[in-house]
Amino acid sequence: MSSSFYDQTASAPESPYDIALRPPDFSEFTGQEKVKERLMLMVEAAKQRGDTLDHILLCGPPGLGKTTLAHILATAVGSKMNATSGPQIERAGDLAGILTNLQERDILFIDEIHRLHPSIEEYLYPAMEDFRLDIIIDQGPKARSVRIDLPPFTLVGATTRAGMLTAPMRSRFGIPNRVDYYTTDELRSILERSARLIKVEIEPAGAGEIARRSRGTPRIANHLLRWVRDYAQVRAQNIITQTVADAALTMLDIDLDGLDEMDQRILDAIINKFDGGPVGLNSIAVAVHEDASTLEDMHEPFLVMQGYLKRTPRGRVAMPGAYKKLGLPVPTGSQRELFDS
Ligand SMILES: Nc1ncnc2c1ncn2[C@@H]1O[C@H](COP(=O)(O)OP(=O)(O)O)[C@@H](O)[C@H]1O
Ligand SMILES: [Mg+2]
Repeated sequence: MSSSFYDQTASAPESPYDIALRPPDFSEFTGQEKVKERLMLMVEAAKQRGDTLDHILLCGPPGLGKTTLAHILATAVGSKMNATSGPQIERAGDLAGILTNLQERDILFIDEIHRLHPSIEEYLYPAMEDFRLDIIIDQGPKARSVRIDLPPFTLVGATTRAGMLTAPMRSRFGIPNRVDYYTTDELRSILERSARLIKVEIEPAGAGEIARRSRGTPRIANHLLRWVRDYAQVRAQNIITQTVADAALTMLDIDLDGLDEMDQRILDAIINKFDGGPVGLNSIAVAVHEDASTLEDMHEPFLVMQGYLKRTPRGRVAMPGAYKKLGLPVPTGSQRELFDS
């Protein structure tokens, strides 16, 4: 299986399938209770005051619901959603165009906001703080600054790398809202809802099997469901039982803990090519023929969360679970000390 089967990189365009399964409001958005409660409270407060919603920062790994929450927020405040992303805004003029087209209380969603160019960020700060845009027109001695007043709007920023956000940018948002990996139970109810929407019969144990192998990620769960649905249609009378789910996922080389072929190759490379680490991310990327940022965004957070991998100042270290996963003896002696370092 290629890692692009469920491409969940932040810049991947959303498929019609993803959009169709997106929960339209907070009541259908499963999990992330803390974040949800906070956002609902902010919406209610803004509505009571008849005010514009404060700017909101959403962070966390891909596929966990950041874009979905931005849409839900727009619906909740009854405003229009305007979506763009950091890399899409190349020049100050692009930003000016977007900002001057906003209506009062609109949501401006900037995905991958950590990838905004620093010079664009400079323009965004006064827009966020005072709803004004100062642009320089002309060059040389005739250059002058023109001030444009903007309607009050809400910026919703999303990032997979909160750590890469500049300090001035971060300080212009309130508390960051971190979305986290979902529990198997939460994923099971997401899958049961999705199955209803795509009209496929699924048994609770079938949903549980897909949920367990979805790396805590709704987008992956939904994409695996689509594959299992096809499998059930062709080979199993259209009903997703646990046996059917297991057979279908095994055919994709997704193991019982949800690790895909790339995850396994990463662990294998660290252990067999780099003596278990510590090894730098770029060396791993070369060894497994994958882009370093894809590894860092998509694979590493899950492997770290599951305890297969540890990030140390000197590089990545394979943990005992990784050796067990590959059926290898867990090292003793000096390598052992790395586990606790
Ligand atoms: N809490 C949730 N409940 C139900 N479905 C969800 C939830 N979060 C995400 N999804 C599903 O997963 C897909 C990916 O979510 P998305 O918001 O695009 O993630 P992100 O922007 O964080 O990468 C959505 O299209 C939606 O179908
Ligand atoms: Mg997104």
